[in-house]
Amino acid sequence: MRFDVLTLFPEMVEGPLSTSILGRGREAGLFEVGCHDLRAHGLGRHKVVDDTPYGGGSGMVMRVDVVDAALATVRRPESRVLLTEPSGRRFDQAMARELAACPHVVIICGHYEGIDARVREHLVDDCVSIGDYVLTGGEYAAMVIVDAVARLLPGVLGNEGSLAEESFTRPGLEYPHYTRPRTYRGWEIPEVLVSGNHGRVAAWREEAARARTRAIRPDLALPEPEAPPKSRRAARRTGNDGARDLPTKAHTVATAADLDGSALPTESLDATPGEALRRGAGPPPPQAAHDAAPTPQVRATLDEDAPSE
Ligand code: ADE
Repeated sequence: MRFDVLTLFPEMVEGPLSTSILGRGREAGLFEVGCHDLRAHGLGRHKVVDDTPYGGGSGMVMRVDVVDAALATVRRPESRVLLTEPSGRRFDQAMARELAACPHVVIICGHYEGIDARVREHLVDDCVSIGDYVLTGGEYAAMVIVDAVARLLPGVLGNEGSLAEESFTRPGLEYPHYTRPRTYRGWEIPEVLVSGNHGRVAAWREEAARARTRAIRPDLALPEPEAPPKSRRAARRTGNDGARDLPTKAHTVATAADLDGSALPTESLDATPGEALRRGAGPPPPQAAHDAAPTPQVRATLDEDAPSE
């Protein structure tokens, strides 16, 4: 697969897309990225790429002829051409999968106050937004799109198993991951994770993921499965009605708010590790939904910790 990014700031896009996992994927020839300077197609000695808006108003508008000339250098019959702008179709995982099936994706990065509407009307297949906020330009959006799509390509992550699991897991946020040390500054990990009981671990993770989803992204929450009635004999045998393993607020972040349905307390909004760390409030919270698979390290931790503790 190939991506071509048309931008006024090719160096801004080239750097991140040459680094880390994507850089290695490109070097291995798993996909290609071309970054092209729109200004190379600017007009006159000064390579002008924008002009004042017809009808008046503030700001400058990117010219359609400049964009068209740049696009003509990369477009092929099979190309899917995107324009990044805040008023576009919201980018999501489904769209990432859709694009990963395309042989060639061209991304035009919008800039300035706007871009001549004829680009949208005549030159592109889709306008894409990465969220309901306004960036200074479409370059970050282009990088987000390339990253989300490229990681779906065979071989790029180097761990096909996690991708396979990802496409079959239920929607919603991920369960929390923990690794060594088992205790850090008095912060404990959930006991169940070192129980060595894989069934209980799986049940705990399922409920922790649901609790986080209900609290942080209720729009992604699925209806609760009906709990199978537990026989009295089973409860007597284990001495456990199942409740003690369920995630506590300390383990899920935001569970309390989720349970009583009230507004989230401040701690619940630890959406980023930085927020929690700044307050010294707790370990970094779990990552969001799509890096879901239990990692070999976590499994190893479980396996190593369980017998000795
Ligand atoms: N350009 C500026 N803001 C944007 C956004 N949210 N998504 C895509 N492109 C943009």
